[in-house]
Amino acid sequence: MDRAEAKLYEQVAGGIARQIREGVLRAGERIPSVRRTSRQQRVSVSTVLPAYFLLENQGLIEARPQSGFYVKPRPLAPPPEPKISAPPTAAVRLSSGDLIAEVLASTRNPEVVPLGAAVVSPELMPAKPLARLTAALARESCAKALSYEFPPGLPALRRQIAKRGLELGWAFKPDEVLITNGCMEALNLCLRAVAKAGDTVAVESPCYYGILELMESLGLKALELPTHPREGLSLSALTAALRRHKVKALVTIPSFLNPLGCCMPEENRRELARLIAKRRLPLIEDDIYGDLYFEARRLKPIAAFDREGWVLFCSSFSKTLASGFRVGWTLPGRFRAEVEKLKRNTTLANATLPQMAIAEYLQNGGYERHLRQLRRALEDNVRQVSDAVARHFPVGTRVSRPEGGYVLWVEFPKGVDALDLHRRALSEQISIAPGPIFSAKQKYRNCVRLNCGHPWSDKIAGALRRLGEMLMERSA
Ligand SMILES: Cc1ncc(COP(=O)(O)O)c(C=O)c1O
Repeated sequence: MDRAEAKLYEQVAGGIARQIREGVLRAGERIPSVRRTSRQQRVSVSTVLPAYFLLENQGLIEARPQSGFYVKPRPLAPPPEPKISAPPTAAVRLSSGDLIAEVLASTRNPEVVPLGAAVVSPELMPAKPLARLTAALARESCAKALSYEFPPGLPALRRQIAKRGLELGWAFKPDEVLITNGCMEALNLCLRAVAKAGDTVAVESPCYYGILELMESLGLKALELPTHPREGLSLSALTAALRRHKVKALVTIPSFLNPLGCCMPEENRRELARLIAKRRLPLIEDDIYGDLYFEARRLKPIAAFDREGWVLFCSSFSKTLASGFRVGWTLPGRFRAEVEKLKRNTTLANATLPQMAIAEYLQNGGYERHLRQLRRALEDNVRQVSDAVARHFPVGTRVSRPEGGYVLWVEFPKGVDALDLHRRALSEQISIAPGPIFSAKQKYRNCVRLNCGHPWSDKIAGALRRLGEMLMERSA
């Protein structure tokens, strides 16, 4: 490279560095591709490349495989994490009120900034290939698509799910799989198979409100257990609770608990499988976020360590492909016969066409590639939202650091009322999920969950800034 060229690439790098410093290009944003910059600035590709390497060396940008160059996140001091939860030690009957319906209703309004319900933007899903496949199947296999597919569900789909067992580090057969209407129906059937009205069921705290609402409708009592923001359910608290209470079942989300985002380490999963086998305690494992890990590797589900069928495993394609298709599944272990009977007399069967479409997509559609892209996009979104919280929310705010999934748990300094914030935010078309809906006793009044399932945008950035202002107005 001659001197003139050397100067040129430094100029190119300098221009981009300036844009980063001045906030024109923001943390996490993709910078124009090498070719585009070469066209825009009328310089050769061999000038742009060293400019980008220089920016990389300076720690201003980073290369992401098969994706391009991105502005590196500013090394903002991350806010502290929440502490281990301290729920009430008594089992309680549930009564959730209208708040959950309010949070979900806001997702139907496209004007509302969607930081409330845990929903992934359809933009991040393979909508076009799925639509093409579904249309072709409806045309070419119409008779099949119009017919019942009785439990346990479409064989081709159950085979594809079993094939993914390799990915999970857990070998199981297609015959063990029972297709359900989403993960929610799987949880419903499994809970009904192991507990009846008046029984006590242990859950993590905070806990996904859908599980609490389901337990309420079944007349179950909830025993909330302390949960660590990184490692999930406290096994020592569970052991102590089992000594004090007559617990009929445990429901857990070990991978990226909604709402804390924590992930139970492998040794705890193994230990928990041993504990429940010893106590003959049914464990309902909700693995709906299991494929959305940011690290290099998926952790085995608890079911993989279960030798005696005490784990009832539940999942779905709602968070990774198409929530609207309502395709989930369960492997209910030793409770199989009862769960299958409940499936028959609850919804009889799943719609056939979505099962066909998902089976076909898993067979030929590039699911693993899609998952890789989705994980990267969600990790990016989580980082952007977390940075915005660090930038705009009051000092003393604590934020979870999830290693997968796409929700953040935010704990405000004492005195902040999440319900009040939720109502004020909604009046300005911003939806958030207030902490009390994640607890049987409406605890967590100073907490909210933020959904990070939508790509970063000016609208989301503005909403987070505005939430920060609302919080400051209150503390002023
Ligand atoms: C932990 C958890 N389980 C289950 C569900 C419901 O899943 P599905 O839409 O597949 O019924 C959700 C949805 O948000 C969830 O977060």
